[in-house]
Amino acid sequence: MIKLNINGKSHNVDVEPDTPLLWAIREQVGLTGTKYGCGIAQCGACTVHIDGAAVRSCAMPVSAAAGKRITTIEGLASGKTLHKVQKAWIDHDVPQCGYCQAGMIMAVAALLKNKPKPTDADINSTITNICRCGTFQQVRAAIHAAAKA
Ligand code: FES
Ligand code: FES
Repeated sequence: MIKLNINGKSHNVDVEPDTPLLWAIREQVGLTGTKYGCGIAQCGACTVHIDGAAVRSCAMPVSAAAGKRITTIEGLASGKTLHKVQKAWIDHDVPQCGYCQAGMIMAVAALLKNKPKPTDADINSTITNICRCGTFQQVRAAIHAAAKA
């Protein structure tokens, strides 16, 4: 058993230590907002926060996340109050199909925590998540709006 702290709750998961964290989150804990895209740390669909930092959970063994504070998209809002990135996403109609968006939002929330007023260059170098629907311009606009909120 591996003990995980996800969104402030403790979960015991019965998986091999080298199981990707993504699968423990989705299949053991049942939080399916975090998505599987590539499985090789390239697309960012599986992004969660580990102790506040954005991590691609498909490429992290579950054992490495034990004892750390894991936040998924389901835990980003504070109760009924959406995170400012979620609000900006709604205001800018960012999602198309939505598949990449949980990971995108988690990556952006971590960026704004480290850099409250990111430049376009900061966004280009940090938000490397892939969106097959091509929402990149709306993502950029929403990041700048969230930075001003
Ligand atoms: S599924 Fe993890 S980066 Fe693509
Ligand atoms: S909104 Fe469809 S993949 Fe990004």
